[in-house]
Amino acid sequence: MKKLLITALLGLSTAVSYAEGKTLMIFYSFSGNIEKIAETVKAETGADLVKVEPLQKGLNYAANNYSLGSDLIDRIRRNPNDSKSYPPIEPIKIDFSSYDFVIIGTPLWWSQMAAPMQTFLYNNANELEGKKLG
Ligand SMILES: Cc1cc2nc3c(=O)[nH]c(=O)nc-3n(C[C@H](O)[C@H](O)[C@H](O)COP(=O)(O)O)c2cc1C
Repeated sequence: MKKLLITALLGLSTAVSYAEGKTLMIFYSFSGNIEKIAETVKAETGADLVKVEPLQKGLNYAANNYSLGSDLIDRIRRNPNDSKSYPPIEPIKIDFSSYDFVIIGTPLWWSQMAAPMQTFLYNNANELEGKKLG
């Protein structure tokens, strides 16, 4: 019972501080599922939304049993410290200092975050340091 109460209180305090802070949700969505989730998060929390967009348009990452998406993930896996391993994305400017919470929304590609989201995180690792992430 005591444990339940503590859990409930912790949940409540998280909800209260969550409501008081400003939230940014950065998301990537290839076929629209994560975009729907992001819209719901925005409606329920007032979060600002930023969408990660690959620089190269019109690619079908799901074609041929996900072969293109698989290749992109493989390149990152093999050389994660090389910026050339990451597929380029449209430039995004964010003033991270004005957000208390950052939510990352991404589909899984071969059990990893989708490659364009990995590019975003690689490019913005310093800016995200110390942030409360979800
Ligand atoms: C290249 C690629 C690889 C995927 N790999 C996985 C996976 O490993 N596990 C999984 O549950 N779903 C996998 N999926 C399915 C997507 O994660 C799932 O359909 C997701 O809801 C798509 O989100 P989106 O519509 O926002 O792009 C993969 C999809 C693609 C295109």
